[in-house]
Amino acid sequence: MPIARRKFDCLVIGAGGGGLRAALQLAEADARVAVVSKVFPTRSHTVAAQGGMNAALGNVLPDSWHWHMYDTIKGGDYLADQDAVEFMCQAAPRLVVELEHYGVPFTRLENGRIYQRPFGAQSQNFGGAQAARTCPAADRTGHAILHALYQQNIRARTHFFDEFFAVDLLRDEDGYVLGALVLEIETGQPLVIEARTTLIATGGAARMYRTSTNAMINTGDGMAMALRAGVPLQDMEFIQFHPTGIAGLGVLISEGVRGEGGYLVNSAGERFMERYAPTARDLASRDVVARAIEVEVREGRGCGPAKEHIHLQVSHLGAEVIKSRLPGIRELAMRFAHVDPIDHPIPVYPTAHYTMGGIPTNRFGEVVAPVHTGPEEPVPGLYAVGECACVSIHGANRLGGNSLLDIVVFGRAAGNQILEYLKENPFPRPLTEKAIEPALQRLARWEARGDGEPVETIGEELRRIMEQHCGVFRNQENLNQGVAKLLKLRDRLQHAHLRDHSRIFNTARIEALELENLMEVALATITSAAARQESRGAHSRDDFPERDDRQWLKHSLYLRDGQRLDYKPVRMKPLTVDSFPPKPRVY
Ligand code: FUM
Repeated sequence: MPIARRKFDCLVIGAGGGGLRAALQLAEADARVAVVSKVFPTRSHTVAAQGGMNAALGNVLPDSWHWHMYDTIKGGDYLADQDAVEFMCQAAPRLVVELEHYGVPFTRLENGRIYQRPFGAQSQNFGGAQAARTCPAADRTGHAILHALYQQNIRARTHFFDEFFAVDLLRDEDGYVLGALVLEIETGQPLVIEARTTLIATGGAARMYRTSTNAMINTGDGMAMALRAGVPLQDMEFIQFHPTGIAGLGVLISEGVRGEGGYLVNSAGERFMERYAPTARDLASRDVVARAIEVEVREGRGCGPAKEHIHLQVSHLGAEVIKSRLPGIRELAMRFAHVDPIDHPIPVYPTAHYTMGGIPTNRFGEVVAPVHTGPEEPVPGLYAVGECACVSIHGANRLGGNSLLDIVVFGRAAGNQILEYLKENPFPRPLTEKAIEPALQRLARWEARGDGEPVETIGEELRRIMEQHCGVFRNQENLNQGVAKLLKLRDRLQHAHLRDHSRIFNTARIEALELENLMEVALATITSAAARQESRGAHSRDDFPERDDRQWLKHSLYLRDGQRLDYKPVRMKPLTVDSFPPKPRVY
């Protein structure tokens, strides 16, 4: 039976904030836009973002977009592309107001303005006193933004394919991306979505670690699809470990807690961050705080019977502040750590949180890459935004509060760029059966298998390998061992079997496809980490403890075969202001 086809101007894969913001821009301009999401849209991972979105509004303390730009570049350890960072920071204040008009209930000051809380590595006047730049909706900011964007899309008549899984991109022989093969999860029926443009907005891949703040859905699907379509991934070695996950579980305890005045203590009750970051202390950048916690625990100053976590002290803020500004955090602490932060500290430990690298794009969301062996150029018809993309604005370490900003700024920009492309390319290119064949073969492979280990056993092992071999601190020997283990595990996955074919075949097949994606992305991460012989931002090497700008001020590119690693220069030239040249990074 022929596979059903649907046709759109733009296919958006992923219904988090980036995908929905782009879709809204398109639908409002009367483009026919389809959003495919493997979960109901408001369950996308943006919903879990807690602390807020950065914008230099200056409502609480003096601020400027230029200071925000400086902090972002310094926070990223000078690996970010400075033109893109300037673009983002300049746009931020306007886009917060736009979100407010879409219905986001930002927390208010007495004077009616949007409240702003201090977050890590924010400064006034290029490295001076602490700034307050993060606009929250209590501690459920992502939830508020996602719901507002979803409702705006419904109003604008965006077409949603809820609970459909994207299997692979469809490319023609000239390299144009013409949509994707998707699978209806409930029925297992494939569907071809033909589209003149395709935007990947599938989020990150921190589910490749055992403890993670990420939803189970964050399996790097879009990044793996890009790799299979011949597009490299950029800067994959940079994985952010959020300093304060609930110990043992990884559930996110927002940086907003420290922004409101919470602080970390070791088993001696010492505020140890004073030793690691004398000025910013608990509000140093995340990579600095995560390393400090790991060192405290390694050196025997951890809390708890096994001395394996640190305490986040909050009770001094008082019940009223905790209940009004951090209600979700209190709930999470009570449910998962069994402590009420009004009375007791929260046990925390670093947890995998964010993928700084991803599909290389420019600031218009166009996927720009050396495809196969050719020079760098846009991949026609393909766009990416949000955590699956690498613009790069986060460099080697993202600042808290910049991810919600990223998805809104670049989601909107990509929407505008796609509209331009649609104007210039008014006629759809033909999509042949041959272009669909590789994606169908990927599906068919999982119908035939059955004699190896269960898929979920391999998933557990993958997460253990990544935790043991590619964590906060890294070294060559350990990374090389991890690469070898993962390559063997990938072979085992080829022979894995799905659980209980008869009853739950459809979801079991989705889990297998997701694990294949996660495997691709984990290999990209650990291979790129083994190659980068310096310490920069979140990539911290015991054997190369210094940043090495002479050799390594460049972006890595990973191709699917894992053999060829190219590098490309960092764009140091901003749009209108002077560059921020690399300096020693102290907080
Ligand atoms: O800590 C947090 O609330 C997380 C924010 C972020 O990752 O931007």
